[in-house]
Amino acid sequence: MSKFIVVEGLDGTGKTTQIKILADYIKGKSKDAVITAEPTSHPSGKLIRRILAGEVPCDPFALAALFLSDRIIHNTDSEDGIEKMLSEGKTVISDRYYYSTFAYQGHETDLSWTMDMHFSCPKIRRPDLVLFLTMSPEKCIERIRANRPDEAIEIYENTESLTKISRQFDTVFDILKEKENIVYVDADGTVEEVSRRLFDAYDKYCGE
Ligand code: TYD
Repeated sequence: MSKFIVVEGLDGTGKTTQIKILADYIKGKSKDAVITAEPTSHPSGKLIRRILAGEVPCDPFALAALFLSDRIIHNTDSEDGIEKMLSEGKTVISDRYYYSTFAYQGHETDLSWTMDMHFSCPKIRRPDLVLFLTMSPEKCIERIRANRPDEAIEIYENTESLTKISRQFDTVFDILKEKENIVYVDADGTVEEVSRRLFDAYDKYCGE
């Protein structure tokens, strides 16, 4: 059966690499797996990227609402939306989802408001499994700088912001732990060690 999996984590935790490896692992079990991401590549996601790069100023409440809008498009798009891919029997792995809005925008706006607008929206699906990659904010910043020394640093990519966001992720997952399958995965290890932890969580919650 198709599953909807979300991978979350601070910038620099290695989500993108691990998602590719997890998708290959699922395909190795003769299942179709697709990777998707937020912000999306739709016009809404492109505007968000410009805001994150500091090119376009934006009130944090407006940014939270833009993420909601981008997420509705992510769910419903008739070509590459989550619902469409699940209906075709694919396992969908999303690089970030509403937990990021709760963590990144929730601490700058109002956490209850960000949660309410998502959970009262019938177009936003709840994932079957959330894998949260954990790592200290200091190590995340070290890795961001080492991996892309020449690239611009986004608005949240500093130790102070990441420390607040990390605490906020804990608050969010604590609130949601009774309702959703949330697995904390230690992202501090070799690529193989971390991917083994992800495979174990996948097998436990989604393996048939
Ligand atoms: P992403 O491209 O996943 O960055 P990285 O690969 O470095 O993790 O995400 C871009 C940024 O968008 C990241 O700093 C987190 C931020 N973001 C939010 O603030 N709210 C959201 O709802 C989402 C989906 C992302």
